[in-house]
Amino acid sequence: MELTLVYSTRFGQAQKIMDTLAQQWTQVGLSCRLHSVAEVQRDPELLSQAQAAVLGAPIYFGAFDPDFIKLVAQHHAHLNTIPSAFFVVCFAAGSPQATDQVEVIKLSRQFLRQTGWDPALTQGFAGALRYSQYGWFKKRFVHWIAKRAGVPSDIRHDLEMTDWAQVQAFGNRFVDGMLGKPIENAKWL
Ligand SMILES: Cc1cc2nc3c(=O)[nH]c(=O)nc-3n(C[C@H](O)[C@H](O)[C@H](O)COP(=O)(O)O)c2cc1C
Repeated sequence: MELTLVYSTRFGQAQKIMDTLAQQWTQVGLSCRLHSVAEVQRDPELLSQAQAAVLGAPIYFGAFDPDFIKLVAQHHAHLNTIPSAFFVVCFAAGSPQATDQVEVIKLSRQFLRQTGWDPALTQGFAGALRYSQYGWFKKRFVHWIAKRAGVPSDIRHDLEMTDWAQVQAFGNRFVDGMLGKPIENAKWL
């Protein structure tokens, strides 16, 4: 079976997670095709002909990218007929404060309701703080948010918070689902 993987990203972490999953799935014999949101916008058949699909996107300022939302809304009817999974990448998904996690679950559920998509598997992954790529203001703003959430960070160093074992477990659960086995802990959202 061929897997269509679509990611939205600004600083590369959602793409890195998708790349890692693609490597994992390729190793178990699945054929993976990776596309950015822009590529699918240019050629909608990349998603409308998919046999199985996994989509991943980050949260910025409490929202998903409007182009990503539009794309999923356009394709939700097809996505609901094939094996599909969604992951969200953000700071709050890995925050030690329960209220942060509740917020990301609320936002993501709102996105799924708004687009009409009902993926079989959902997951939140902690993202990365790429201080080296942010401008002066963004650096300090993100540092302040991280501090407020109880995550110490140093603006002189990038901080990757993604739990790669959690990513691998998500990859295994999706394969189980495609093989018709019951998926454990399918819904994070
Ligand atoms: C300017 C800015 C705003 C952000 N806003 C949020 C937010 O509202 N909630 C959150 O949980 N994470 C937020 N983050 C963290 C990002 O979601 C995280 O860095 C993620 O890894 C980005 O994914 P990407 O590298 O694929 O773009 C923000 C990051 C930046 C730089």
